[in-house]
Order: sequence, then structure tokens, then C-alpha cells
Amino acid sequence: MAGKTAREILAMKGEQKITMVTCYDATFARLVDRAGIDMVLVGDSLGMVIQGRENTLPVTVDDVVYHGQAVKRGFGSVAGKAPPHLTLDMPFMSFQVTPTKALEAAGRLVKEGGAESVKLEGGHDEAARATARMVASGIPVVGHVGLTPQSVHAFGGFKVQGREPDRAEQIREEAKRLEDAGCFAIVLEGMPTPLAAEISASLRIPTIGIGAGNGCDGQVLVMYDLLGMNATFSPKFVKRFADLEKTIGDALGAYAREVRDGTFPDEAHSFSAAAPAKQAKR
Ligand code: KIV
Repeated sequence: MAGKTAREILAMKGEQKITMVTCYDATFARLVDRAGIDMVLVGDSLGMVIQGRENTLPVTVDDVVYHGQAVKRGFGSVAGKAPPHLTLDMPFMSFQVTPTKALEAAGRLVKEGGAESVKLEGGHDEAARATARMVASGIPVVGHVGLTPQSVHAFGGFKVQGREPDRAEQIREEAKRLEDAGCFAIVLEGMPTPLAAEISASLRIPTIGIGAGNGCDGQVLVMYDLLGMNATFSPKFVKRFADLEKTIGDALGAYAREVRDGTFPDEAHSFSAAAPAKQAKR
């Protein structure tokens, strides 16, 4: 079953806040689908949370395709309900070189990765040209401005953007440029609340905030951050809605203890020699 459409997401502006999370595998995708989340992003954040890298720069189109396919397989478990809209991230250097190269990469994300839209970072002219080319070819595009992690070296780190008037004006212009180029939604990351609220009010398309306050049309968080699975990463904008680092750590500790002291597996988790009525199946 196809996911929520880009048009449906666009129509949510002013009606209902948009919920978005990142996701990288089928098991979490099933849970996200059941929770009724509107949009799923296979973000290039996978470079950090899945691959253990320092930043998102080494992530490839192949990586995003692979995780997109896994996520797609996890959707569709709720009868009669459209799964979340699936957005796949365009990795660093997959869209900046030429609009034609961007279109080729986006085509792979759609054809092989199951994307219903793609997301690219930055509101510079190249990003706008690439967006226009993809939109003209029938690929819905999500923009992303502010603290765009692919520009980590240019920013000198993961720093809040738009506190200075010049940079704030640049971000306003980039957001408008992306809307004009045809984006149906735009991520606003790592910027002061008033700036994000002002941009949200000025655009026709919905804004989805991360570290951009409550004035956006929706919110996105990295799955592992919101579930509390990354104790060493605690920026101000991340709210932990669970403490899975502790829950999982406790479960693994209990498993190791029971294996070592011989209490696992017990009879309830072992097969008898007599022919069983039912065999456990996975
Ligand atoms: O890669 C990612 O996960 C993202 C979100 C944080 C917006 O771009």
C-alpha cells in the first residue's frame, strides 16, 4: 500500500501538526507505522547512529537505498491505513554537482529505495536548481535549511544557525527559494524559535522543525535520540520519550546473568523429546 502522499502532507499545514521520525530498519518501521506517525525519513544520520561515523558525509546513495528498502518492508501491518510517507535523504555530493546527477540519484532513491519523496540540504542555487529538475520529473522534494549537517565543516561544528541578522536573512531567503523551486515541505534545523516561527508563517508549504522550537508546522527527531538510546548525545532540543539505553542494558545484563548461572534456558524455553503439538516458528 502506498504511503501518505506529498499532497496530503502539504494539506496538513494549518490543520494539524505533522509528525516525522527517522527510521532505518523494518522492525522500527513496523512500530512507527502502528504509532500513526505521518512521515518517516531515512536520514543520512544513519552514518552516525547506524554506522558509528563522526558525521553524515561518508553516507552513499547505496546506503540510503539499502535502508529505504528495509523500512519499506516494515510498513503495511495496519489493515486499511496508509503507512507513513517515506522520504529518503540525498547524501552529500549526490545533488550538488549538477541537476542531472541529482536527478539520477533521486531516481535511484525512488526506483530502488521506495522513496515517495527525497530530501536535500541547503537553499543555495544548486539545491534550488536540483529541486526544480526533480520536481519537473515528478519527484516530490523536501528542503532542509539552517543547521544542515552536511555543512559541518563550513559551520565549524554542529552550531545553531541564524542568531546573527545576516545569517537569519540568508536562511529566510533559502527557505523561500526552495519553496519557489517546488519543495512541498521544508525541514528547519538548529535555529532560534522566533526565526523558525517567522519562516513557517511566511511560507505556503509546511515546515518541520528539529531544534527550531514550537512555531513550526511539524517536528522531526532522530529515532534513537527520542527513544533515549544514545546516552552520550544530549543536545538541548532532544527530548527523551523513553530510556531504552537503560531498558536494553538491563535486559542484556539479565540475559548474560541467566546464561552464566544456568537459569536460561529453562523448561518453558526448551523442547522435549516427545513430538510437540506445535513447534515454535519464527
Ligand atoms: O539525517 C537526518 O536524520 C536528518 C534529520 C535530522 C532532519 O536530516
